[in-house]
Amino acid sequence: MTDAATTDVNAKFTPRVFSGIKPSGGLTLGNYLGAIKRFVDMQGGDFETIYCVVDLHAITVWQDPTELRNTTREVAAGFIASGIDPEQSVLFNQSQVSQHAELGWLFNCVARVGWMNRMTQFKDKAGSNAEKVSLGLYAYPSLMAADILLYHATHVPVGEDQKQHVELTRDIAQKFNHDFKVDFFPETNPVIEGPATRVMNLRDGAKKMSKSGESDMERINMTDDADTIAKKFKKAKTDPEPLPDTLDGLAGRPEARNLVDIYAALSDQTSQQVIAEYAGAGWGKFKPALADLAVDKLAPISTEMSRLMADPAEIDRILARGAERARAIAQPVLQQAYDIVGFVR
Ligand code: TRP
Repeated sequence: MTDAATTDVNAKFTPRVFSGIKPSGGLTLGNYLGAIKRFVDMQGGDFETIYCVVDLHAITVWQDPTELRNTTREVAAGFIASGIDPEQSVLFNQSQVSQHAELGWLFNCVARVGWMNRMTQFKDKAGSNAEKVSLGLYAYPSLMAADILLYHATHVPVGEDQKQHVELTRDIAQKFNHDFKVDFFPETNPVIEGPATRVMNLRDGAKKMSKSGESDMERINMTDDADTIAKKFKKAKTDPEPLPDTLDGLAGRPEARNLVDIYAALSDQTSQQVIAEYAGAGWGKFKPALADLAVDKLAPISTEMSRLMADPAEIDRILARGAERARAIAQPVLQQAYDIVGFVR
């Protein structure tokens, strides 16, 4: 579909951004560069912005209740410390807005089993264990479609790995509109931009940086202090070659490419610009520069996160207020969807 056609279909909808982060394990540099930093960039522009700590999604895999509460607050603190203004954006945790689960049920009745079977994230997570995972993990993408469409969101900033889920969201919206002969849900566009939509593991450039990997050296946690951040970058795995003078020269060098992309994202440049600046440089020069830059950008965020985490009651107040504002948008949409489906009320 062309851009013009997409705009047409969505003409009657308010330009609105929705995105979410799961509170399962603490925040990493991958969450920051691939998601939060981009959420901040979209705030205060042409869009209404709604950001959610998706705790209903987190429990598709078992979570310790005390940990879940901590992590939910930590993710909220990460959003705020990175520059999400809870006045300008709507910031809340998903379980406080029951409309997510309710629209999710409608979508479970719209989405087809065959569609869910094609979701690569489910296949990766379930692996050879597909009979033993929760039913919630299987229905996860349908709840994600509900998160987005409950607000008639037109744009969803996500990492590359979530593209298929946003496409499924469009399929669900289209089937709902078609089955009930309405023009009710928009066609949501994924926004996958910037040099670091996929931040890789610092010890193995073939794997995504994850909160659950076995070694702490493979990731940067948003709560790491300055010394830890610097040490992890200096010890990051690389190869013996110096940096090339074009991006093509990084083909087949995933660890090198990852560090260049991280540098680019942290310094608001393109990866090409970084390569142009560091062409021919060895790691002895590039890694300390990257470590300094990362400490410069990330240490203030981690300091602010600890300050916010020291007052959990204040975080809870912010989330409760955000949930109230979210409900004010979500409830009329859910009621209309119920009317369309034919529920008596
Ligand atoms: N599935 C997303 C992830 O793992 C998290 C998520 C849940 C989300 N609901 C969403 C992202 C709605 C964007 C929009 O990263």
